[in-house]
Amino acid sequence: MCGIVGIIQQTESKIGNEIIEALTKLEYRGYDSVGVASVANGELIIVKDEGKIAEVLEKIDLDSIKGRVAIGHTRWATHGPPSKENAHPHVDCKKQISVIHNGIIENFQQLKNELLEQGHVFQSETDTEVLPHLIEQFLEEEKVSLEEAIIKTVERIEGTYGICVISTLEPDKIFCAKKDSPLVIGINDNRMFCASDIPAFLSYTQEVVLLHDDEFVTISKDNYEIIDLKTGETITRKPYTVSWKPEMAQKAGFPHFMLKEIHEQPNTLADYIRIEQPSILKIAEKIYEAEKVFLLAAGTAHYSTLTGQNLIRRFVKKPCSSVIASEYELIKNLIDEKTVIVPVSQSGETMDTIMAIKNARELGATILSAVNIVGSTVTRHSDEVLYLYAGPEIGVAATKTYTAQTLAMWDIGLELGKISGELDNDEYEMYRTNFKNIPSIVKQTIVHNEARANHIASWFAKKNSSFYLARSLNLQTAREGALKMKEIAYIHSEAYPAGESKHGPIALVEEDYPVVFVTPQDQTRKLIVGNIMEMKARGATAIAVLEEGDKEMEELVKWKFEIPKGYSEMFSTIPYVVPLQLLAYYTAVRRGYSPDQPRNLSKSVTVL
Ligand code: F6R
Repeated sequence: MCGIVGIIQQTESKIGNEIIEALTKLEYRGYDSVGVASVANGELIIVKDEGKIAEVLEKIDLDSIKGRVAIGHTRWATHGPPSKENAHPHVDCKKQISVIHNGIIENFQQLKNELLEQGHVFQSETDTEVLPHLIEQFLEEEKVSLEEAIIKTVERIEGTYGICVISTLEPDKIFCAKKDSPLVIGINDNRMFCASDIPAFLSYTQEVVLLHDDEFVTISKDNYEIIDLKTGETITRKPYTVSWKPEMAQKAGFPHFMLKEIHEQPNTLADYIRIEQPSILKIAEKIYEAEKVFLLAAGTAHYSTLTGQNLIRRFVKKPCSSVIASEYELIKNLIDEKTVIVPVSQSGETMDTIMAIKNARELGATILSAVNIVGSTVTRHSDEVLYLYAGPEIGVAATKTYTAQTLAMWDIGLELGKISGELDNDEYEMYRTNFKNIPSIVKQTIVHNEARANHIASWFAKKNSSFYLARSLNLQTAREGALKMKEIAYIHSEAYPAGESKHGPIALVEEDYPVVFVTPQDQTRKLIVGNIMEMKARGATAIAVLEEGDKEMEELVKWKFEIPKGYSEMFSTIPYVVPLQLLAYYTAVRRGYSPDQPRNLSKSVTVL
């Protein structure tokens, strides 16, 4: 949560446009306030306010922001509500030091009390503000260099942090430190960058250095020096070239990133299939050999792990559970060296997931992850990694990474079926052919259903509540569809096993109440007809995601989304979710909300 970025350029000149451009790419991390600091003519310039970047931009003159160095922050409030005062950057009493921070300083109250006693004056309610004051205190009290004062400050704080510091004392450097919050460096001939995530500087460079926990970095206009804070030693780490292209972080003509990302799915899924990953066999073998398997994730990623859970149960006949990462405590006493944990994460930075796998690792478990972001924290705590190759996802609501995660689960599942002998060669090859057809099925699904989604959204947008019902494998599709509707259109949407809906939820149904059914032609198809009738008998308006040509189902419902035929029903969780992504998107737009930046949410949830 919170996006941070720093830029150093060759000369002291205009830097406002560059820093705002970079911040805009990080707005998915938080967007309740925004701020920039630079050093010009030996003084700190601070511009900050409550609101999204576009709103704040209306009030400021970007050209007035000059400097050789600048730092910027887009906030997701934790300590103190969104306000101008609580917006970062924060400064010390003398206005010589400016700090931006992503994370939480757990011992901030104790530090703040100490600093108040020393006479420091605070302007905000944030935990972050202790940092510039503490640096100032070390500078005055111990007469150390700026670098040493920052290191001493970092040593005093407890919690999680990605921090960037600039100062009038050394106006050509940015100092950074990292623990449990992401921080990367970008290197270009004319500018150096540091940021929470690569898209911030992707239009300038693909040369990236990943920082690890407990590292401190001093960045100057043409160099970076990394120090390991635990040993005090200097670390040599060369940049690597990311495969992401600059246009991947642009909207490419779509009105929102979310719509662009929904449309990208045929390509992202094809990329996953095309790129061979040696880790897949190792992952399958280790799962096969394990005594216990737990899949671990949060939110949308958790729904993708339900595919993994079902496949492992089916193809290895091994007890296996998907566990919500923040509920890890419930399984902790089952973890040992015969346990495999499969964390699934887009960002690889979700704190609930990270904390769980760190603990599981200490207890001897093997960690085999499926992650989108190369080099992210989850990957660094993993024994093997399967990458999703979905490219940067900037819309806060996950779409293309959900289908990529689900496909990755299938990849693992098929290898497991082969190893265990549950799939003979012919079956394995048949499934692999189906697997390769998924991108084209998803493409047709988008083409067939986008206009319908927009049309149905005009009715859905007037509703306050809805049900999403399914049975068996597609219960997760219903859950993901309901989550999308909730998080971007703010319509209360509850997913339920269709068969269970009569045990309580049906009490809410009244005339014209929306109920979305996911009804592929599988073994659940017959039973779900009864559930549709039950809902309609109470006045519900039924919408179904059904298989093309399913006439009986078409007659039962008011509106339909059609999924093309011609692939194994087993893979249905991938195409069947796509119309539900589109429905949520268009409903949000019709209700006048920004699907890319839903209220109260952040894409990268780095708090517990
Ligand atoms: C919902 C959504 C979230 C994430 C969840 C986990 O659209 O995006 O529910 O799926 O916060 O994030 P990652 O996958 O980054 O661990």
